[in-house]
Amino acid sequence: MPIPDSFIDDLVGRTDIEDLVGGYVRLTKRSGAHIFGLCPFHSEKTPSFAVNTEKQIYYCFGCGKGGGAVNFIMEIESLSFRDAVEFLARRSGMTVPETDTPDGLASRRSRMLALNRDAARHFYDMLRSPSGQQAREYLASRRISKAAVIRFGIGAAPNSWTLLLEAMGKKGYSQQELIDAGLARNGRSGGAPYDMFRDRLMFPVIDVRGGVIGFSGRIIGDGEPKYLNSPDTVVFNKSRNLFALNFAKKSKAGMVILAEGNIDVVALHQAGFDSAVASLGTSLTTEQARLMSRYTEKAVIAYDSDEAGRKAALRAIPFLEKTGMNVKVVDLGASKDPDEFIKSNGADAFSVLLDRSENHVEYRLMTIEGKYDLSSDEGRLLFLSDATGLLSTLETKPEREIYGRRVAKTAGISPEAVESEVAKKLKARRSRDNKDFERKVSRPAAAVQPEDKTLRYKNEYSAVAEEGVIRCLIREPRLLGTILEMGFSQEEFTSPFLAKIFETLLRRISEGRDTQEALILAGLNQGESSQLSLILQKPEASQRSGTTIRKYVEKIRTESYKIRTPDEGLLLEIKNQKLQGVIEN
Ligand code: CTP
Ligand code: MN
Repeated sequence: MPIPDSFIDDLVGRTDIEDLVGGYVRLTKRSGAHIFGLCPFHSEKTPSFAVNTEKQIYYCFGCGKGGGAVNFIMEIESLSFRDAVEFLARRSGMTVPETDTPDGLASRRSRMLALNRDAARHFYDMLRSPSGQQAREYLASRRISKAAVIRFGIGAAPNSWTLLLEAMGKKGYSQQELIDAGLARNGRSGGAPYDMFRDRLMFPVIDVRGGVIGFSGRIIGDGEPKYLNSPDTVVFNKSRNLFALNFAKKSKAGMVILAEGNIDVVALHQAGFDSAVASLGTSLTTEQARLMSRYTEKAVIAYDSDEAGRKAALRAIPFLEKTGMNVKVVDLGASKDPDEFIKSNGADAFSVLLDRSENHVEYRLMTIEGKYDLSSDEGRLLFLSDATGLLSTLETKPEREIYGRRVAKTAGISPEAVESEVAKKLKARRSRDNKDFERKVSRPAAAVQPEDKTLRYKNEYSAVAEEGVIRCLIREPRLLGTILEMGFSQEEFTSPFLAKIFETLLRRISEGRDTQEALILAGLNQGESSQLSLILQKPEASQRSGTTIRKYVEKIRTESYKIRTPDEGLLLEIKNQKLQGVIEN
């Protein structure tokens, strides 16, 4: 059952785009109807993501993503059209008509959550059964307490291909349901389905609402892959959840501790650090950073101390920073991870480490220091160049001064010399950033082909005019009469995408409904909505809209003339000339 258009119109009408986007993006620079912020869809340092409060749409001049409220939610929450509508409806306290169908998302979700909960219970029971002996021994060897096992609901998947399928089958779940939930897999070349998690220690992943949304299975002992995580399903998305966030969100610690492995997280909680979380097999994502920032302003990274951990920490920092969180990194010294540190030094020592954790600028400076041989002049110069580069990215003057003094000391030169070097780099950076901004903002005028390859224009010249027709019609629906008088029809579009928009407009205008951008965009997929937003951003050639739209139609016809047989072309030319006469009289 499609959702009625009138409902979507109503929903979009009740959603304020600035408010909606503002929940994800810090919107800072205001210029006219636009408010700019850092784009959530690509990484950038200067804001090129614009929200147009008048048109109720967004557009990024950097990556080209754009659309209305529904498109934004589809993109940022990775939801289907229907799910995004449900999401927005919930937000506005509205109920989507016809969502309670048996195969509707809501019921599929609750059924999968029930299956996951039953599966977690099964794994939990298996840990206590004879087949869970190895897992029990492993937990003991890692000194994980009974209390921690209960708290996290840790379980075991015994070494069997079908145990879970059978157990869940008895509870009334179909094989397909287990496959959909990522708990089982189809056998190769039509073979029988088999359990996904075998011979692993099982950690249920629980979301902030307390639902079991997926699992992390750790190998018992050593081996590869160390962790196996549930695939993304209708209830689970790895990049938008964190292991143990259900506990961490309730913590009074005033900070979130970010660790690498689930064992580290459990060990931290067991030692009293109840705000530890871990990502689920991916490096930290923007969404995860945002999720954490909802609960606390401080993030302490406690990744493994090896090269991979250091690199992962450096990658995570900008994501966390972007949410406005204060980020620190603990230095575990000789210990390989927080678990090992606590085992050898105790919980109190880890507390001290947390207090002493370096703010990330220092951490990055340390990393830079480590790269050069500071006993040679050449090494010191290279260090200086690298470090002043970092300093020039700092937002405030006091920060630049404090760290500047430190760099001066390390490099063995005067603070003034460092300061002037930073000032030089800062100036260059600012002018580069400004140019970047200018270039990005003016880019749409030049761009012709859609980013989305499936929308590619066969005839760019005609497409530019077709875009013009669409733009004029959205701005001034009354112009439809003008082009219909010219005998213009949908078939004259060379771009199927633009023809589809035209059809929608035709329908809406004839039904007397609004043609506001945000409403038209709501029904489009990501690529389409980005392209349409782009089209709508382009300035119109002339103020005289009637003349403009006629010129576009003529252009479309001259272009089509070029590819038609001479006779057809001649006919069209006559048609155009006749019309020209009508218009001019
Ligand atoms: N990882 C993963 N899936 C998870 C959790 C972690 O793929 N659900 C990955 C992390 O990205 C990291 C590694 O697995 O690269 C786990 O880190 P590690 O600290 O080694 O895991 P532990 O279980 O703590 O193991 P160990 O006792 O060996 O430290
Ligand atoms: Mn570890």
